[in-house]
Amino acid sequence: MYETHSREREREQQSRDWTGNQNSIYKTLGASNHTESERHEHDYYATEPKAMELLLEEEQFAPVVWECACGEGHLAKVLEKAGHEVIATDLIYRGYGDTEPMDFLQETLDDFEGDIITNPPYKFALEFVQRALDSVQPGRKVAMFLKLQFLEGKARKQFFLNNPPKVVYVSSSRLLCAMNGDFEKIQSSAVAYAWFVWEKGFSGNPIIKWIN
Ligand SMILES: C[S@@+](CC[C@H](N)C(=O)[O-])C[C@H]1O[C@@H](n2cnc3c(N)ncnc32)[C@H](O)[C@@H]1O
Repeated sequence: MYETHSREREREQQSRDWTGNQNSIYKTLGASNHTESERHEHDYYATEPKAMELLLEEEQFAPVVWECACGEGHLAKVLEKAGHEVIATDLIYRGYGDTEPMDFLQETLDDFEGDIITNPPYKFALEFVQRALDSVQPGRKVAMFLKLQFLEGKARKQFFLNNPPKVVYVSSSRLLCAMNGDFEKIQSSAVAYAWFVWEKGFSGNPIIKWIN
C-alpha cells in the first residue's frame, strides 16, 4: 500500500521527540474529535453521488483513484461500486477511508500511479488542483468538482493558460452539495457546478460539455 513521504518523516521525528507544528496540530485535532464548527471550518460539503455517476458516464479513469478529500465517501463509494480501487484520505476522519488524517496540501503518496478525483474545500480549490497535478504521473487525470465560477479570476486565468483542463463538464440541472452531508436540509442548489478534468501534460484548447 502507499506510504506518505511526510508520514515516514513524522514517524522518524516522533521516535526522536515531539516538537509539533501546524500540521501536527491538525493531526492531533483530527485524531481526537473535531467540533461542529471546526468541521465547517474545513469546508465539509458532501457531493450528491449522482455527480460522480454522471462523470463516469463520460470519462474513463485509472484502476486506482485517490479521493484526497473524501469526507464521508459520497464520491468514493460510487467509484468503488464502478470497480475502482479507491485510496480515500481526508484532513478529518469522518467515518470513511483512511482513519489517519492526511493533509493533502502537505503530504503525498509515494509512487502514486493512478488518477485523483475529488470535490475539494473551495477556499483551497486552486491549491488542490495544483497539488493534484503535481501528484499524478504524465497522462494521468485529475478531476475536480468545482463551482462553475472557478473558470474566472486573474490568478486562475494564469493557471489555466499554463494548465488547461481537457474537458469541463457543466452540470446544467444543478447538482447538490450538502453542508455536513445533510441532504435533507436542502431541496435545490443556488450554485452552478462543473467537473473540471485535467490530463497531465495536455496543452490544447479545453472542450466544454453539458451533462444532466
Ligand atoms: C467540499 S468537502 C467534499 C467531501 C467529499 N470529497 C465529497 O465530495 O463528498 C471538502 C473536504 O475536504 C477536506 N479537507 C479540507 N482541507 C483539507 C486538506 N488540507 N487535506 C485533505 N482534506 C481536506 C474537508 O475535511 C472536507 O471533507
